[in-house]
Amino acid sequence: MSLAPTGQPQSKVTTASLQQKKLNREPITCLTAYDYTSARLVDEAGIDLILVGDSLAQVMLGYENTLPVTMDEMVHHTRAVKRGVRRALIVADMPFSSYHISRREALANAARFVKDGGAEAVKVEGGEKRAELIRRLLDAEIPVMGHIGLTPQSIHAMGGYKVQGKTLAAIEQLMRDAVALEQAGVFSIVLEGIPREVAAMITEEVRVPTIGIGAGPECDGQILVFHDLLGLTFGPAAKFVRRYASVGSVVSGALDSYRQDVEAGNYPNDAEAYHLPKETAAALETVLQRKRRMRNDMAAD
Ligand code: KIV
Repeated sequence: MSLAPTGQPQSKVTTASLQQKKLNREPITCLTAYDYTSARLVDEAGIDLILVGDSLAQVMLGYENTLPVTMDEMVHHTRAVKRGVRRALIVADMPFSSYHISRREALANAARFVKDGGAEAVKVEGGEKRAELIRRLLDAEIPVMGHIGLTPQSIHAMGGYKVQGKTLAAIEQLMRDAVALEQAGVFSIVLEGIPREVAAMITEEVRVPTIGIGAGPECDGQILVFHDLLGLTFGPAAKFVRRYASVGSVVSGALDSYRQDVEAGNYPNDAEAYHLPKETAAALETVLQRKRRMRNDMAAD
């Protein structure tokens, strides 16, 4: 029996290899992806970690915030991502209410991501208060990623999407949250929407890698939403988003050209059409000529 999993590249990313990157001070690259095509592109670009984020509620499903997305929808997208990925670590985001109601339900939902979705880890939002749940998930052999700071599932409790950790008391709470997550056994912590100074302190304090989004450059790694990075969104971007392309405009331009071509009769042209084999075309012509002759003969009678 071979010890190496077959069909996987040597450098398959694992929670252990991410930990090693922190020790080596090598930046960890992360992105969201939600379907086969985006996941395959992200994986082939050499990104270390793919998060099937609940942000898909907004960028894929058009909801106002992340709260409405369901477990069924998340698992559906995770399975599609899995089919496109060979190297990156796949983390599935536990959606709102999938881990808030009971431990039993939370465990069943996390296990579903691994068993049915093909995820290799799950992410939960929240600090100290998630420690017990995280221990249970680890007992069930499910690696967990933490997420503190601006946690979008708390939009109503936070009173909107606001940068967190701006007072001394808030900084102390964030430090307590990060340490509690580390002690509970997470393999990594997302730091979202906090001042860079606070993210730097947390990154220095904990031994697990921190992954920043709107948390400055001192984190051990960075994550962005796929659609934000590509300029595939409709509203204005957040301050921390760097747009590496304007894919939205490229797509709009292509769609406009297609519409104009069809309306003007320029699409498809002859080269874009299928043709009959020569023999069939000749046979068809003979049949048509016979029919035309018969019609003419009948008209003459
Ligand atoms: O859902 C998401 O996309 C996220 C990240 C951006 C961290 O939670």
